[in-house]
Amino acid sequence: MATIRSVVRGCGYHLPERVLTNAELSRMVDTSHEWIVQRTGIEERRIAAEDETTSTLGLKAAEKALADARLTPADIDLIVVATSTPDFTFPSVATQIQAGLGITHGAAFDLQAVCTGFVYAVATADKFLTSGSHKRALVIGAETFSRILDWTDRTTCVLFGDGAGALVLEAQLGTGTSEDRGVLTSHLRSDGRHREKLYVDGGPGSTKTCGFLRMQGKEVFKHAVGMVTDVITDAFKATRTSAADIDWFVPHQANKRIIDATAEKLGIPSEKVVMTVQRHGNTSAASIPLALGVARADGRIKEGDLVMIEAMGGGFTWGAALIRW
Ligand code: UT7
Repeated sequence: MATIRSVVRGCGYHLPERVLTNAELSRMVDTSHEWIVQRTGIEERRIAAEDETTSTLGLKAAEKALADARLTPADIDLIVVATSTPDFTFPSVATQIQAGLGITHGAAFDLQAVCTGFVYAVATADKFLTSGSHKRALVIGAETFSRILDWTDRTTCVLFGDGAGALVLEAQLGTGTSEDRGVLTSHLRSDGRHREKLYVDGGPGSTKTCGFLRMQGKEVFKHAVGMVTDVITDAFKATRTSAADIDWFVPHQANKRIIDATAEKLGIPSEKVVMTVQRHGNTSAASIPLALGVARADGRIKEGDLVMIEAMGGGFTWGAALIRW
């Protein structure tokens, strides 16, 4: 049956130039390169310069995605930005990127689901496009987590980094089967009872400051694998596909051990797993589009490939989407 699909037209990413290595971190807090690599897989991360913000990183990623799609800003009528580190409480990062691109039509808004933000943003844009209300969307994950880290807390400051990635999605007619190109299914979940395990201890409505990230890492770890395998299984069921059909598994990049355990539980071989955590650290909502951008640019992800994205993070929130590229 003819169905509208949100098809990936382009992909781009942008990273700050400044690389922060584990060796440098071990001179700032009581940690070591060995501990960080063994527990997380992270070797280095990027840190935004003084004059870089979430919207400047996101704008550069968006420009690259548009160039990759061979489209101009005038072709875009929807911008959805997933971020938990906006430049300001308002206006949204999305409207700042819209202005930076010179777009004066359509709609732009931010969406906040912490590390699951990009999966939420893909699912949201997909609903707009498949409803017929919008034609082409920029879906962006952009973060400057370095700005909400307590740089004296070794349990969190070694884990995160800054960056941005973007997809251009376009409404196209498909046949309604899992052979179609585009977002085939998306599954979003949340459970606010887990607030204390991963949160920021400030905000405009409480402390009137932006606060610092606090995490009970072990508690988050305990839930992560089970939650994401659940939603991935839902995505397989909804599309009558299985792990064997996947060409690329592009998970949220928080911890190599979580990624390895999830892939093993699902029976996805390591050659099909896109891993960027070693270079980028955890960039929250930016981590999936950064990993997609890297794997697209180096020729791994090709048109027609079946790509599973998934994430879990603060809230808790978690989700997965299956996309045929
Ligand atoms: O993206 C959102 C979702 N977030 C996540 O997915 C993060 C999930 N959690 C994790 O990735 C892991 O739990 C961490 C990487 C945060 C921690 O790894 P862990 O294996 O769970 O270690 P742990 O918290 O149990 O800590 C083990 C030890 C502790 O020392 P004691 O109590 O055993 O003496 C920590 O104090 O390691 C210590 N430790 C460190 N040592 C050196 C904690 N942080 C550090 C550090 N360097 N940076």
